[in-house]
Amino acid sequence: MSVGIEKIGFYTAPYYIDMVDLAEARNQDPNKFLIGIGQKQQSVIPPSQDVVSMAANAAETILTEEDKKTIDMIIFGTETGIDNSKAASMYLQSLLGISDYARAFEVKQACYGGTAGIQMGINYLALNPDRKVLVIGADIARYGLETPGEVTQGGGAVAMLLSSNPTVLALDGKSAFYSKNIMDFWRPNYTKEARVDGHYSNDVYVDFFNRTFNQYLDRYNKQVTDFDALVFHLPYPKMGVKALRTVVPQEEENNPLWVEFNHSKLYNSLVGNLYTGSLYLSLISLIANSKTIPAGANIGLFSYGSGAQGEFYSGVLGEFDRKLLKQSVDQQINRRKRLTITEYEQMYRSGLKETADLSINYSDDDSRFVLKGRAKDKLIYLDQVTGEDK
Ligand code: COA
Repeated sequence: MSVGIEKIGFYTAPYYIDMVDLAEARNQDPNKFLIGIGQKQQSVIPPSQDVVSMAANAAETILTEEDKKTIDMIIFGTETGIDNSKAASMYLQSLLGISDYARAFEVKQACYGGTAGIQMGINYLALNPDRKVLVIGADIARYGLETPGEVTQGGGAVAMLLSSNPTVLALDGKSAFYSKNIMDFWRPNYTKEARVDGHYSNDVYVDFFNRTFNQYLDRYNKQVTDFDALVFHLPYPKMGVKALRTVVPQEEENNPLWVEFNHSKLYNSLVGNLYTGSLYLSLISLIANSKTIPAGANIGLFSYGSGAQGEFYSGVLGEFDRKLLKQSVDQQINRRKRLTITEYEQMYRSGLKETADLSINYSDDDSRFVLKGRAKDKLIYLDQVTGEDK
């Protein structure tokens, strides 16, 4: 029996900034951002969106009423938690109308949370093949205005429905992992902005990729050439370039792994970092944009969560409507309004506000689900289609 991803959906907020505008405002050479980092645009997340509303917007693009009845688990991977106790999945369950007879919880290990959810989900499905599992990777990447990390911000959500009908990606259960207590990137409880030792985090990421990839090759007696594509967790596209170079030199630009990698980074270069969702946006980018990768292709996935956990695992590309996926993601990206750097700075600052009672202006946000505000420390979400508050 095979299990894996049956459906995959993506959401990002309706605003972006252009990296040339950001470079000019920060007195940097635009080529540093465009070539050195590999980033062209970056989504800007308004106060009317948080991980719950973004996850609901992503999941709504893929779930049918029948799916909602068959989901036994909602696993919410995030490192942008909305409460230290209550899981984001509880709000998501009610916004989407998923059966109350489900397990719903949140998983945290930096950008690795979505992968932990997938591994847990496929184990459950192996024993319960007639059920389904919803896995979310949703985050807002914030490093601070005028910091070196600013060019690697972004945000959004990826929703994945796992089942024993894995038309997107069948997971073969082969996996290798490595973890170590290190300080390359972290997010202290008292602030919404990440702390990062950026150059060190690059080195650790490449090291963890090499360790897990080689462990995988040894364990399953495989070689690099057994893969048709390698997709990476991409905080920014250059990080994946650095990792891929260690197994296929960049001089071999016509090598299929480089050709497919270039497809897999396209959407990430327009959206920016979405932490737990970044690897899965790369997967979407590959399968939506590559015309050379066929159904049946062997895909290797490198997941990395600072702090740090690495995992390399694999799957086989299924047969499904890739054009429809591309249309839906292109629509998300192309609908965004370009902000000036001053408008972005104002939006960024207002997103940092935290008060027990808060009314958020969502009049410009056309997303189905929005965060309306807070009343006595209770979050209030709005479904703009039904007009219901949750
Ligand atoms: N044209 C082309 N490339 C240029 C350039 C120019 N004019 N100017 C600089 N570059 C290149 C540099 O050579 C460098 O490339 P390299 O990494 O291949 O050597 C790249 O642009 C970045 O320049 P650098 O000076 O290293 O940038 P920085 O010190 O400002 O910081 C990061 C870059 C990525 C370290 C920083 O943005 C960061 O910390 N981001 C967060 C990373 C993160 O999230 N890590 C944790 C998740 S795993």
